[in-house]
Amino acid sequence: MKSKILNILIENNDNFTSGENISQKLGMTRANVWKYINTLKEEGYKIESISRRGYKLLSSPDILRYEEIQEYLDTDFIGRDIRHFTSIDSTNKRAKELACHLDEGTVLIAEEQTLGKGRIGRSWVSPSGKGIWMSIILKPELDLDKVSKLTQIGAVAVFKALENMNIRSQIKWPNDILINGQKVSGILTEMSGELNMIDYIVMGIGVNVNLNESDIPDQLKERATSISIEQAREIDRKKLTAYILNQFEKYYIDFKKDGDISGIIDILKINSVLLGKEVRVINGNKVKIGLAIDINNNGELVVDFEDGRENIYSGEVSVRGMDGYI
Ligand code: BTN
Repeated sequence: MKSKILNILIENNDNFTSGENISQKLGMTRANVWKYINTLKEEGYKIESISRRGYKLLSSPDILRYEEIQEYLDTDFIGRDIRHFTSIDSTNKRAKELACHLDEGTVLIAEEQTLGKGRIGRSWVSPSGKGIWMSIILKPELDLDKVSKLTQIGAVAVFKALENMNIRSQIKWPNDILINGQKVSGILTEMSGELNMIDYIVMGIGVNVNLNESDIPDQLKERATSISIEQAREIDRKKLTAYILNQFEKYYIDFKKDGDISGIIDILKINSVLLGKEVRVINGNKVKIGLAIDINNNGELVVDFEDGRENIYSGEVSVRGMDGYI
C-alpha cells in the first residue's frame, strides 16, 4: 500500500493529490492514507501536506526501492520485481533462500549488509546507503558448465553501466571492476543445481559507489576504492543500479539462448587489466606464475606457464599481478 501511495505521488509529479482521491483509488480510509504518508516521511520522503489540497512529493531519499529506480529502468524482466531491505546479512544468502519461490529476474537490494560475502570465502564491506548491494535471481535452462560465463556478463554489465555515466573503468578477470587500478566492484555468482541442470543462479553484484576513505578498512585501502573517491563527486546510485540491470538484461538474453558469450569477449579483452601481464594464479596454497595472453570464448583466462598453456576457469582462483593487485 505504501508503495502504491508513493507511486500515485510520483505520477502526480508537481501537483497535489487529495487524501480523498488516494483513499478512493486504493480503497482505504483517509486516516490510513495519512498513516502511510507519515511512514514515508519517516523514511526520508519530503511530502508537503496542505489541508483541503492534499499531498505533494517534494523529494525522495537516496534509497534503492523499485519506485525510485523504475524511471531509469529499461528492462523486460530483470529488476521488475525488486525486494528492498534496509539492512540484511547478505543479499546473496537471502536470495538463495528465496530463489525457488521467486521469478527469474527478481532482484534483492539492500541498503546495508552486515555479513556481505565476497569470493573465496572473503567478506564484503557494505556500509549503509553508500553502495549497490544486490543479487539477481536467474533460472536459465542451460548446462552447469556454462554458469561461470555469467560472471563475465555481470562484469561487462557493470563496466558498460559506468561507461553510460561517463566513468572509465577496467575489468580484472574474472570478476572485478577497477578504476585507476583499484577495485570498485565485484561479482559473486552462486548456484544450485543437480545432474547438469541449473535450479537457480544468484548473481551478487557489489559496487562501492559513495564510500568515503573512512568506510574502507585499512587493510583494503591499497586495492579498494569507491567511484566517488576516484571521481571526486557523489554518484547517483539509482541511475547506476538501473543502468547495470539494463545492461545485464541485454547480454543475458543472448546468453540464455545457447550459453554463448562470444559477443562480449572483445569488451572483456579490450578493457582487461591483465592481458599481456605477468600474473600469479593462486589456487588454495598453489601459486603459479605465467603470462596472461587471452580470454577465450568460454570466458576463461588463457595463461602461458613455463610448463605449458592453461585455460583458467574462474572457480576458486585468484589472479594477481607480480607486484600487487594488478
Ligand atoms: C568479490 O569481489 O569478492 C565479490 C563481491 C560480491 C559482493 C556482493 S554485494 C551483494 C551480494 N551479496 C553478498 O553477500 N555478496 C554480493
